[in-house]
Amino acid sequence: MSTACPVSRGAAEFDPFGDGYQQDPPAYVEWSRESEPVFYSPKLDYWVVTRYEDIKAIFRDNVTFSPSVALEKITPTSQAANDVLASYDYGMNRTLVNEDEPAHMERRRALMEPFSPEHLAHHEPMVRALVREYVDAFIDDGRADLVNQMFWEIPLTVALEFLGVPDDDKPKLREYSVAHTVNTWGRPEPEEQVAVAHAVGNFWQYAGGVLERMRERPEDHGWMQYGIRTQRELPEVVTDSYLHSMMMAGIVAAHETTANGIANAVKLLLENRAIWDQICAEPSLIPNAVEECLRHNGSQAAWRRITTAPTRIGGVAVPEGARILMVSSSGNHDPRRFEDPELVDVRRDDAADHLTFGYGAHQCLGKNLARMEMQIFLEELTGRLPHMRLAEQDFTYVPNTSFRGPEHLWVEWDPAANPERTQPSILQPRVEVNIGEPTTAHHSRPMRVESVVDAADGVRHITLSSADGTALPAFTPGSHIDVECGDSGIVRQYSLCGLPPAPVQPAGCPVPHIPRPQRYEIAVLREEESRGGSSWVHDHVREGEILTVRGPRNHFRLPERAQRYVFVAGGIGITPIRAMAAQAAREDVPYEIHYLGRERAGMAFAHELLAEHDDRLSVHCSGEGPRADLLQLMADNAQDGRAGRVHVYACGPQRMIDDLSAASADWPEESVVFEHFSSTLGELDPEVEHEFTVHLADSDTDLVVPRDRTLLQTLRDAGRQIPSNCQEGLCGTCEVPVLDGEVDHRDVVLTGSERREGDRMMSCCSRAVGDRIVLGL
Ligand code: HEM
Ligand code: FES
Repeated sequence: MSTACPVSRGAAEFDPFGDGYQQDPPAYVEWSRESEPVFYSPKLDYWVVTRYEDIKAIFRDNVTFSPSVALEKITPTSQAANDVLASYDYGMNRTLVNEDEPAHMERRRALMEPFSPEHLAHHEPMVRALVREYVDAFIDDGRADLVNQMFWEIPLTVALEFLGVPDDDKPKLREYSVAHTVNTWGRPEPEEQVAVAHAVGNFWQYAGGVLERMRERPEDHGWMQYGIRTQRELPEVVTDSYLHSMMMAGIVAAHETTANGIANAVKLLLENRAIWDQICAEPSLIPNAVEECLRHNGSQAAWRRITTAPTRIGGVAVPEGARILMVSSSGNHDPRRFEDPELVDVRRDDAADHLTFGYGAHQCLGKNLARMEMQIFLEELTGRLPHMRLAEQDFTYVPNTSFRGPEHLWVEWDPAANPERTQPSILQPRVEVNIGEPTTAHHSRPMRVESVVDAADGVRHITLSSADGTALPAFTPGSHIDVECGDSGIVRQYSLCGLPPAPVQPAGCPVPHIPRPQRYEIAVLREEESRGGSSWVHDHVREGEILTVRGPRNHFRLPERAQRYVFVAGGIGITPIRAMAAQAAREDVPYEIHYLGRERAGMAFAHELLAEHDDRLSVHCSGEGPRADLLQLMADNAQDGRAGRVHVYACGPQRMIDDLSAASADWPEESVVFEHFSSTLGELDPEVEHEFTVHLADSDTDLVVPRDRTLLQTLRDAGRQIPSNCQEGLCGTCEVPVLDGEVDHRDVVLTGSERREGDRMMSCCSRAVGDRIVLGL
C-alpha cells in the first residue's frame, strides 16, 4: 500500500484568505481547473471544486449536497468570541439559503411574490433617482472613490427599502455587515474575533429590534413585512427563527453582494477600456455587459455545501459530512463551458449561464433586483462620465472566501469635459432597464461579410470579421455560430469550419493559450427543402454586408484526452469535422477522416482536405462507386470503441447517424459523438399528441399545453421569455429546469445520462409522458 501523501502541493498550499485568491480567484486556482479539479484542502478542512460542470452538479443536487453550512463560520472562533456572541443571545439559524428540503422549497414559494418582475419594476425610479443624486454630488470634483461615495450606500438603501427596514443608521449597518462577512466567511485573528463578535452580536440585536417594530405595522411595504403577513397563514413555514435570522442575513444578501458586484464590474470595464468605450457608445449592450461582468469578475467567489452521504464529485470519492467549497468564480472561467473564458466579451450569448447567482433550487432570489441596480449604475456612469478612468491604486479586499469586491475604487476625469455641460439631453435615460436575463437582442454580434465564394456546387463559403473592431472570441473545434437571416425571423446555426489559430504556450504558463481569430468561416449548403435559412443566406449574403450573429458556442466538443479519432462527415457535415481534424493533426493524435457525398463536385473543401490530411482522408462518393460501408468501419473499430480507445465524431444526415448509432449501441456514450444537421423533431402531429398541464413552481401557476402547441409556445403565450433558436431540439437554447414529472425527450442535445437525471428538458420539442410536469420557472 502506498504511504505517499495524497495531498498535492497545490492543494496543500491552497489559501483562500491570502492575497492571491483575493485578487483573482479564478487565476489563483487555474492549476486546479486544469489538473486537479476536486481536491482536499487540509488548511481549510474543505473539499474544493473548481470546474463548471462539477459545481453545477453539486448545486443541482441539494439533498446529497446540503446547503446547511452556507452561513456557518468557516473559521471556528475562540471561546472568548463565542462568549461574547452568547451574551447577545446570538441565534443565527436557518433562513432560505441554508435550509434543507422540503422546508426550503415551501418557504421559498411562500415568500417569492415580491421578487416578481412586476413588483421589482416599482423600485426602478427610486434606484435611478438615488444614482443620479449621488453622481450629482461628485461629478464636478474630477475624482471619486466610487465604493465609498456611491457603490456601498446605494445598494444598502435599496436593500433596506426592499426589505422594508428604516434606513436610519447606514454607517452602523455597514460596520455590522462587514463584521458578519468576516465572521462567516473570513479568518479573523483571535484578538479581532472578539471585536467582530461584538459587532455581529449588535447586528443580531438590531435585527431583532427592527423586526419587533415591523410586527406593529405588518401592513407596511417590504419583503420582511410580507414575511410577517405570510407567517399568520403559514406559521410552520415562516417561523420566528426564520424571520429573525433573515432580518440579519437578508441585509447582507441584498446589499454587499450588489455593492461588490457593481464595483467589480466598473473596475473590469475600465481595465478593458475598449469595452467601456463600446458600451458608452452603445448602451443597449448594458444588460449583457452586467452578465459578462458577473461571469468574469463576480461578487460571489465561492459558495458552500456539505455532503449527507458518501458520493463522488467529478469521479473523486468524497465521504459523508465533507464540507465543500465550490469556487463558482473558477467555474465561470472554465474553458470546457465558456469559449475563450478570459476574454471580456459583452456580446457573449451565454454569459448569463454564470454561477455567480448559484444554480438550482436555491438560485439567488434577488438576482433581478441586483441586475436592475447594476444596469442603472452602468447606464448613468457611461452616460455622464464616459471619460472617467481608473486612478493609480492598489486594490484591497476583505479577506474571505466568498464576498469579493475592492474596498476602494478611485476614478478620475476632467470635469470640464463632462458631456452634460454641453449636452443636457444626456440626462435622459438612453435605454430601458431589462428586468430578468438579457434577451437575444442584447447580445447579438454585428459581423462584416469579408468574402463569399463557392466552395462546391450549391455550397457558399462565407468569411466574417468583427464589424466594430472588437476582438472575436477564440473558438474550439466543433463550435457553431447562430446567424440571423435578416428580418425573416429565421435563425440558423452553422459550424465554424475555419481552422482555429494554433495555440501558443506563454513562457512560464502551464496552460496553452488560443489566440483570438481575425475572422470566422462558415459554409452553407443551399437546401431545396429548407425552411428558408439556407436559401436566405445564398440569396442575400453579399460581400461588405453586416450580418447579425450570436456565439460561438460549442455543443460538439472534442474530449480532453483521446488516443485516436475516427471522423465521419456526410456532405456539408464536413464543416465541424474540418476544424476537428486540424486540431487532431496539430496535437499529433492519430486520426482518419471518412468524407461521404454523392458527387465530388458537391463536396466542399475536398481539395483542401486532401492537401491538409493526405492519406488520412478517405473520400467516398456514392456517384462514383459503392456506398461507404459504415457498418464495416464501426466493426473494424469496435474493440477499441468499447474500450474507450477510439472516439468517433460524426456529422451528417440522419440516415448516416442512424447507421453509426446502431453499430455502436454497446459502446460507451462518450466514444461516439454525433452532430445532426437536420431533424424532423419538433413537428407536432395533433393526432398522436396528448394535452398536459405544466405547473410553474416559482409562480405557482398551471398552464395547459394543447396537443397542437409546444411547451415553448405555451410558455411564451403566457408571457414567459424563454430563448430559443433551432426550435427542433438541436441547439439546447430552450432548456427549462424540470422539478417533477417524467419527460418524453425528443431532442438530440441531452445525453442518455442527462435524460435519466430528468431535471431538464428542451421546451421546443419535448413533452410530458403523463398529464403533468413541474418546471422550476
Ligand atoms: C441566494 C448571490 C443579490 C437575495 C444567493 C446565492 C448566491 C447569491 C450565490 C446562493 C445560491 C445557491 O445556493 O444556489 C447573489 C449575488 C448578488 C445577489 C452575486 C448580487 C450581484 C441579491 C439581492 C437579494 C438577494 C439583491 C435580495 C433582494 C437572495 C436570497 C437567496 C439568495 C433570498 C436565498 C435563495 C434560496 O436559498 O432559495 N444569492 N445575490 N440576493 N439571494 Fe442573492
Ligand atoms: Fe434549440 Fe429548443 S430551441 S433545442
